[in-house]
Amino acid sequence: MERAARKAGGRLRRDFGEVEHLQVSRKGPSDFVTKADRAAERTLYDELLNARPDWGFLMEEGGKIDGDPGKPRWIIDPLDGTSNFLHGIPHFAISIAVQEPKLDGSGWGEITAALVYQPINDESFWAEKSRGAWLHDARLRVSGRRQLSEALVATGIPFQGHGDFGEWTRIFGAIGPQVAGIRRFGAASLDLAWVAAGRFEGFWESDLQPWDTAAGGLLVREAGGFVSDFRGRSQHICDKQILAGNDPLHSRLHKLLAGAIRA
Ligand code: IPD
Ligand code: CA
Ligand code: CA
Ligand code: CA
Repeated sequence: MERAARKAGGRLRRDFGEVEHLQVSRKGPSDFVTKADRAAERTLYDELLNARPDWGFLMEEGGKIDGDPGKPRWIIDPLDGTSNFLHGIPHFAISIAVQEPKLDGSGWGEITAALVYQPINDESFWAEKSRGAWLHDARLRVSGRRQLSEALVATGIPFQGHGDFGEWTRIFGAIGPQVAGIRRFGAASLDLAWVAAGRFEGFWESDLQPWDTAAGGLLVREAGGFVSDFRGRSQHICDKQILAGNDPLHSRLHKLLAGAIRA
C-alpha cells in the first residue's frame, strides 16, 4: 500500500503546479477532475492489482471493479483535495483503505487497514485494525484536550451542487462560539488523519463518499478517537455524514450537531 501510494504521490508531485497540462473537466458545478487524478488512480490500480491480483476495487474515478468472491477490496481516493491541487495549494492526499467482505457473504464489512499519504511533505499516516495508528513509525494518539473552549476543529464547507448551506450555517452557529477555532483545509482524508494525530480535536462534514472517510475513519479509531454520524450513531463508510473527535469532545460535539440539525 505504501509503495503504491509513494509511486502515485511522485506523479502528483510532478504534476503539481502544471495546471495548463492537467486537462481539467467537471463532474458537477464545482466538482473537478484532472489528468492528475486519473493518472494517480491508474498507478495505484496497477501497483495494487499486481500485489493482490484477486482483490476488488472501489475508486473515486474508476468506480467498482469486482475481485474474487470472499476477497477484500481497496477503497481509493487517488487525489483528495483536487481543488487545492488545481489552485497550487499543497494540501492534498492519497487515501487507500482495505475493506473485508462480511463472513456470511452478505456484502462489505470492516475496514482493516488504512493509509493517508500527503505527497508534498511526505507524511504517511497508516493504521491496522487493533494494531494502532502511526505516522511513519511514531504511534498516534488523539488530542488530550478536554475543553471545547481549547478545541481546534476542522470541517468541510458545502460547495455548489454539494451539501446543504442552511444546515451547515446552523451547525457553524452552534459550534463556532464554543470552540477555540474552526479550520477548512479541503481534504477530508487529511482532516481525519490530523484528528488521529492530535492536531485537531474534532472534524465534521456531510456529503462525503466512502473513499473520503474509509481510511481516515480507521486512523481516528485506532488512535483512540471516536467516529460517528452527526447524531452520535456508528458511522458506516456509506454514510455521508461524519463526526470524528477525541473523548470527551466527540460527545460534546455530537450534542451540538444533533441540536443544530433538529433546530
Ligand atoms: C473533496 C475533499 C474536500 C471535501 C469534499 C470532497 P476530492 O474530495 O475531501 O475536503 O470537502 O466534500 O469531495 O473531490 O477533492 O477528492
Ligand atoms: Ca473529486
Ligand atoms: Ca475526496
Ligand atoms: Ca478525489
